Amino acid sequence: MTTKRTGRIAAKSVSGLHSHVLVLHGPNLNLLGSREPKHYGFATLDDINRALVSHGEAAGARVETFQHNHEGALIDRVHQASRDHVDFIVINPAGYTHTSVALRDALAASAIPFVEVHLSNIYARESFRHHSYFSDLAVGVVSGLGAHGYELALEYALRHLQNRTSHGSQKTEKTH
Ligand code: DQA
Repeated sequence: MTTKRTGRIAAKSVSGLHSHVLVLHGPNLNLLGSREPKHYGFATLDDINRALVSHGEAAGARVETFQHNHEGALIDRVHQASRDHVDFIVINPAGYTHTSVALRDALAASAIPFVEVHLSNIYARESFRHHSYFSDLAVGVVSGLGAHGYELALEYALRHLQNRTSHGSQKTEKTH
């Protein structure tokens, strides 16, 4: 089995196959680029996804992206991720962060480790955004670093998967 090496991270999962990371985007994130740029910046969802996929390719990992405005579609995509043996999820649940027990339950059922990402700093905004149904299940949370937050989360995922391989364990690392 060969792994493409790029001088960065060559990520292989426990099974020896290339690491498989799913990036999930919740409702209204299809509008990035024009949606409230003072909170979310000017990068489009396409810009973000393209950068993540090429980061994954450079690291020898498979990165898939999925955005949906409906809760059930996101839940179904998490179920699919379990069936596909996805190794790690990066998720911005967007508005569902603050409302969705059902999406939280889907992630818990999948037992796939995940990092929660928010473009804006949810703790510096309205109080209803301060509670997340995901953070206590997440390996970590990145909030307020704009589109760069997705890159950092993916970088973490690839390192986490590489460490897991080299240590021969599926233990979930906590960053804090
Ligand atoms: C968001 C923050 C949420 O409160 C909001 O509903 C979003 C985007 C963020 O990326 O900053 O849609 O998750």
